[in-house]
Amino acid sequence: MNAPPPHAASRRRRPLLLIFDSGVGGLSLLPALQAVLPDADLVFASDNAAYPYGTRDADSVVARTVNVVETLVAQWQPSLVIIACNTASTVALPALRTSLGCPVVGVVPAIKPAAAATHTGRIGLLATPATVARPYTAELIATHAAHCEVVMVGSSTLVDLAEHCLRGRPVPPAAVHAALAPLREHPAAARIDAVILGCTHFPLIRDELIAAFPGPRLWLDSAEAVARRASALIGARPQTDAASGNRTAIFTQAGADVTALESALAVRGFTNATVFDIPLARRDSNPVTG
Ligand code: DGL
Repeated sequence: MNAPPPHAASRRRRPLLLIFDSGVGGLSLLPALQAVLPDADLVFASDNAAYPYGTRDADSVVARTVNVVETLVAQWQPSLVIIACNTASTVALPALRTSLGCPVVGVVPAIKPAAAATHTGRIGLLATPATVARPYTAELIATHAAHCEVVMVGSSTLVDLAEHCLRGRPVPPAAVHAALAPLREHPAAARIDAVILGCTHFPLIRDELIAAFPGPRLWLDSAEAVARRASALIGARPQTDAASGNRTAIFTQAGADVTALESALAVRGFTNATVFDIPLARRDSNPVTG
């Protein structure tokens, strides 16, 4: 256990948002959050001990997410939790909303806005292998995009490449190109005009993705919608003069993968990375898909 929370929830002058992801993907929400809640204190938590979530079965993702987020909420008492992970949100939101005593905002693929914006009725969905297989995703498509053809590509390689990118490692164009082959080579590829980034890691390599599949005019993620929802839940409050709030990064396991993120965190205003050891329990460690 490390530093206690800076202020108990009731005594805090500024809202505190807990942004949770398996890895660095949650950082892609920061610009949108900064725009609507500039002075909020942020705790960004990465469950790097259990990364990646996108190759785990649903039960293990639910168990692990609830375990880690409950622990962090008890420690930090945030005003609001953002599950900045499509893979976790598509299965764990009901359990989290039952178990946590604060509002929870999830991130799910931007299928509704993509279906509203497409001119061709052909949409690409890039997400993790788990997210593309989820009944929740199928329901989103059936509800909002039944009139569209949605070409789904699940890729863990792209998640890893985003992790590399934030650690200053190269993102080889050939690797991105290969990961997008199922989209580019799909019979509907030439008519796809909107691609949904259904994993929070993917906006971190948006330019590389566009370079590998330059046709679509729209590349949509859920960051602004999530930020708007977070802001609405936080509600009106007195202005403070702080230009930005305190930012703390938490990891569930120490290691070289954490130290390699130092400069990516620093440029985003996180001056320290704290390890809050939450080892994998046996029920959490149940990889299934490739
Ligand atoms: N960033 C997560 C998402 O939005 C997934 C990354 C992982 O596979 O752990 O789905």
